[in-house]
Amino acid sequence: MKTAAAFLEGLDRKAKVLSRAARTTFEANRELCSWLLDPLARWAEAAYGPEVFDEAARGYAEYCVGVARAKTIYEREGRYTPERMPEIMSGVYEDEGYMIPYMWAAILIYPFWPSMVSHIAMFRDEFIRRLPKNARVLELACGHGVLSLLAAEERPDLQIEGSDISPPAIAVAKRLLAVSGHSGRARFEVKDALKIDGQNGGTKYDGVISGMLAEHLLDPTPLFSTMAHRVANDGLVFFSTALESPQRDHVYEYNWESHPLQMAEHAGLRVSRLASDASAVPKGAKFLPRATAMILRSR
Ligand SMILES: C[S@@+](CC[C@H](N)C(=O)[O-])C[C@H]1O[C@@H](n2cnc3c(N)ncnc32)[C@H](O)[C@@H]1O
Repeated sequence: MKTAAAFLEGLDRKAKVLSRAARTTFEANRELCSWLLDPLARWAEAAYGPEVFDEAARGYAEYCVGVARAKTIYEREGRYTPERMPEIMSGVYEDEGYMIPYMWAAILIYPFWPSMVSHIAMFRDEFIRRLPKNARVLELACGHGVLSLLAAEERPDLQIEGSDISPPAIAVAKRLLAVSGHSGRARFEVKDALKIDGQNGGTKYDGVISGMLAEHLLDPTPLFSTMAHRVANDGLVFFSTALESPQRDHVYEYNWESHPLQMAEHAGLRVSRLASDASAVPKGAKFLPRATAMILRSR
């Protein structure tokens, strides 16, 4: 049975130049990163076959190259210069050829980028493990679905609903779900996170997940209202976003940790935990790419 090592060996074969840094991050956080990658390796191989590790490595490499290019343009322009929303919809979220490799990268950055590892720790130790017994969980923009599947793996009592605007991403999530052994307790569907609030008659959830979505929205304010509205009084929200991190589909530029935090507070949430870590930047860079994760609660 494959384990985390299969993803690292995939990088050795297909993305050698990125492999050393990924291994360093993995080795420094082995237990935490294996908690994510071991079950993912099992599900990935069962769903897609043994070639999946090379495909995931290629997806990760393409993504890292795209991020490096976008950073160079950002330093020159002084602001995000994303594509327009219709082009992002057709060229990213609806394009299977783009979206599937992107989804492998989106999950592999958690154990391979130093700026993302604290998100795994917060998600596992301060969100999943603290949810009440038999909790209902809603994941907005679940993409590959792996955060929901890890929650299901860790907590056999949870019921999980995940959604994403991207049909190819939901196809990946459903394929992983089918082999995960959690089909009875999790489901994924295509849905715009900003349209969730008009649906399900205002169902409340003990846990709400919104990982790396806000920066993809022209205006993230309604996302915070949805999270505040959907989380139960004693429930928990796991929220994360990117700051000063340009990408072709990052349309909302956060520059300060206080910015998403204030959006959360204005929506009626309060933060009980916040972690923000930076990526390495060249000397003299104006911007400091960071990823912030928070645990939020109702006020
Ligand atoms: C960087 S990925 C994050 C995936 C996953 N949540 C994670 O943390 O790895 C961003 C996701 O947001 C989704 N997305 C973008 N706009 C959305 C919207 N309005 N509603 C729902 N999903 C959206 C994309 O399809 C993509 O799967």
